Amino acid sequence: MTRAMLQFPRDFLWGAATASYQVEGGATADGRGSSIWDAFTRVNGAIADGASGDVACDHFHRYAEDVALMAELGLPAYRFSIAWSRVMPDGATPSPRGLDFYHRLTDELLANGIEPVVTLYHWDLPQAVEDDGGWLDRDTAARFADYAAHVHSGLADRVDRWTTINEPFCAAFLGYGSGVHAPGRTDKAAALVAGHHLMLAHGRAMRALRSQARPGDSLSIALNFSPAIADGDTAAHREAARKFDGIHNRFFLDPLLGKGYPDDVLADVEHLPGLRDAIADGDLEVLAEPIDWLGVNYYAPTRVTPLDDPRAASNCPLPGLLGMDVLPPRGKLTSFGWEQAPDSFTDLLCWLDEYTGIPLVVAENGAAFTDTVSADGAVHDPERADYYTEHLRAVHRAVSRGADVRGYLAWSLLDNFEWAMGYTQRFGLVHVDFDTLRRTVKDSGRHFSRIIAANAVPA
Ligand code: NOJ
Repeated sequence: MTRAMLQFPRDFLWGAATASYQVEGGATADGRGSSIWDAFTRVNGAIADGASGDVACDHFHRYAEDVALMAELGLPAYRFSIAWSRVMPDGATPSPRGLDFYHRLTDELLANGIEPVVTLYHWDLPQAVEDDGGWLDRDTAARFADYAAHVHSGLADRVDRWTTINEPFCAAFLGYGSGVHAPGRTDKAAALVAGHHLMLAHGRAMRALRSQARPGDSLSIALNFSPAIADGDTAAHREAARKFDGIHNRFFLDPLLGKGYPDDVLADVEHLPGLRDAIADGDLEVLAEPIDWLGVNYYAPTRVTPLDDPRAASNCPLPGLLGMDVLPPRGKLTSFGWEQAPDSFTDLLCWLDEYTGIPLVVAENGAAFTDTVSADGAVHDPERADYYTEHLRAVHRAVSRGADVRGYLAWSLLDNFEWAMGYTQRFGLVHVDFDTLRRTVKDSGRHFSRIIAANAVPA
């Protein structure tokens, strides 16, 4: 008996993603300057295993081997990010060899029939820009637009799909609020200002890219969404969920839709100085520059509760900020401790479709599990394969309910440097032995490959 399959639309974009600091290594190769992550990984205690991205997966040197793996898996697209400090070591002056690696990588991808999908900023701000104020300095948005235009001039003859900024929520609130990410600041008011400057950088880059538009250009931003689940049926729980959803999801989404920052969120953060003054006349128009697609990064929902709940986990980047807190995840978890909730994914995609009217591409979704290479030389990771099956069924449900979802990029191609968790959390379809750098395609990689080939997921 043949198994029933849930078919995806024709032209659905399939692929896998990585980010520069997480995989490249080559930390000083070709004159790369240092970034805030080079500095942050030197801070005692900042990274769980004390590691850095100095070598990471050594993708910088092994990209051809990695592209061959992508080809073996039949990936039609590869989403990667550009290290600003490789292209402009001082954050402003193009380095003669700065784009060379990305030319080589792009050409190798195209030679293998794989579409490059480029993210311009995935958190590795040049340290030189940080030294001038980083995302707390409005001028960083202007510098980012210049950098974006420079990269686009170099690659747009071969790259169509662009993402300006990846997950501004994390860059702002983990980098400046909770301090668990670079540059490690712990100032909630500053996090809001950084958030605005990241959004301004997105808008300015959109304008810069549009002004040198090339046929085929398709421009986006990637936001991370975590649906808020009110963990109780009281008005206080619902209010806590509204606040979480406001700051985590709508704060970054509404300005893209020409609505400005949501009034309820502005009222929630009124007591924190800085944000209103940071928003200059005309900024909201810049933020509203139309995008061609929205990158949706989804991992898990968040269980939200009022601040005085004794069960609260207090691991939310914003505890206390808005009078709400989060509860520990429940049910089936990944090794990271994240809740597996595919139904929330369906609901999110349907809501986004209705709320934005913009074509959606899942730019990241995936799971960390503890993987090892078995005696038979393979990596048996049935939990990850199930995770993909469940979450792709969830995407399919959203599509069949009418949501305009155009693609799905798995996180991640390779096990890699998972930020504050170092190398302790493996998200790859391909296992990386961080001692030998040997790659082994996991069972889940083969499973994903079969799904792509069928353009369908088992029902
Ligand atoms: C989102 C980030 O974009 C990516 O860099 C990270 O590795 C994954 N989430 C998993 O945490």
